[in-house]
Amino acid sequence: YAAGNPAIGQRLSTTCAACHGASGSGLNPQYPNLAGQNFKYLVKQLTDFKDGRRKNAIMNGMTAKLSAEDIDHLAAFFASQTPRSATGDQRLVKMGEAVYRGGDFGRAVPACMACHAPNGVGNAPAGYPRLGGQHAEYVVSQLEAFARGTRDNDPNQMMRDIASRMSEQQMRAVAQYIQGL
Ligand code: HEM
Ligand code: HEM
Repeated sequence: YAAGNPAIGQRLSTTCAACHGASGSGLNPQYPNLAGQNFKYLVKQLTDFKDGRRKNAIMNGMTAKLSAEDIDHLAAFFASQTPRSATGDQRLVKMGEAVYRGGDFGRAVPACMACHAPNGVGNAPAGYPRLGGQHAEYVVSQLEAFARGTRDNDPNQMMRDIASRMSEQQMRAVAQYIQGL
């Protein structure tokens, strides 16, 4: 890791465990899994919540009192945890796989794997998030937020452009595929 001490991060993470699980994999599908997420992406999101660029009432509150060092430690801890994967809805995974691996030419939707990797691990040096094993319900909520513009913390707005061209069914299908990756 670039910085951060996972052992200190683990101690700081006790307040996160109720929603994200003690090792970064929780049961409530509204709360994202953090286990194995890349350090750079975690630091960016926590800083964006703290500074109010990414808006979520719970997380804006949770990060308000964290220092930059706390954020590094927490990110190092969650990045070091082993991610879990679940099964997706088999009626939707085939369509989801097609979108993930090939995009949709007609809608100018690019293949997700170009940035999030064929196996869903993301791209750690670039800070592109791991998606593999993420709760489908959370993934759909974020795709809708990107499409509506309510999640607009990324200055490049890559996901806004992509999500706004996807159908609701494509979002649901790709989320089921991602959950099983
Ligand atoms: C999102 C970390 C505590 C609920 C996130 C994300 C991170 C994070 C990194 C973004 C994940 C991503 O983009 O994939 C933390 C840390 C915590 C903490 C380090 C402790 C200091 C909590 C608690 C709750 C919670 C206690 C529930 C009461 C949520 C929710 C989201 C989220 C609902 C999604 C927000 C959205 O839709 O934009 N958290 N979390 N978190 N967390 Fe936490
Ligand atoms: C973030 C899905 C294609 C770059 C995300 C997130 C989701 C997602 C669900 C939020 C992750 C989280 O909150 O934990 C998808 C899907 C795609 C796709 C389903 C294909 C249809 C791409 C492509 C790129 C890309 C092609 C690169 C050109 C990013 C980046 C972020 C992100 C940079 C992080 C944004 C931020 O910093 O807030 N993607 N993605 N994605 N994606 Fe994608």
